[in-house]
Amino acid sequence: MATERTLTIIKPDAVAAGHIGDIIKIFEANQFKIVAARLVKLTKKEAEGFYAVHRSKGFFESLTTFMSSGSALVIVLEGENAILRLREVMGATNPANAAPGTIRKLYAASIESNAVHGSDAPETAAYEMGYFFPGIALI
Ligand code: CMP
Repeated sequence: MATERTLTIIKPDAVAAGHIGDIIKIFEANQFKIVAARLVKLTKKEAEGFYAVHRSKGFFESLTTFMSSGSALVIVLEGENAILRLREVMGATNPANAAPGTIRKLYAASIESNAVHGSDAPETAAYEMGYFFPGIALI
């Protein structure tokens, strides 16, 4: 198994609800190491750029409005098989389908306000880490 880096965002709903500490505790309990972090309040344009791959989706407008609605914590995590493993720890996009004990089962309210984001593949991880941390090493 390879050491990887991946990008996660603790989204505005989870930050506003006071769950930053709870979620970081889960990252650390699952052997993810924080290698970079920034508390941001995205502009609508920044949220649109980050989620550009979803531009054609019906939820794009609402998603980017939500993501620019309040503070969010953007983090680069490192660990063995980090990209896939983080997605398992987060749980399904829709919290209604998320497994017990996952971050979204514990803290997400809806498919849009779903507490956390995680890169879904090596290519998207590279794009997303570069979007918030230009120049950061991929490994
Ligand atoms: P995330 O993992 O950040 O990737 C894209 C985001 O779009 C997703 O989490 C949700 O917040 C949102 N999303 C995905 N599907 C839907 C949907 N059907 N309706 C509303 N929001 C969605």
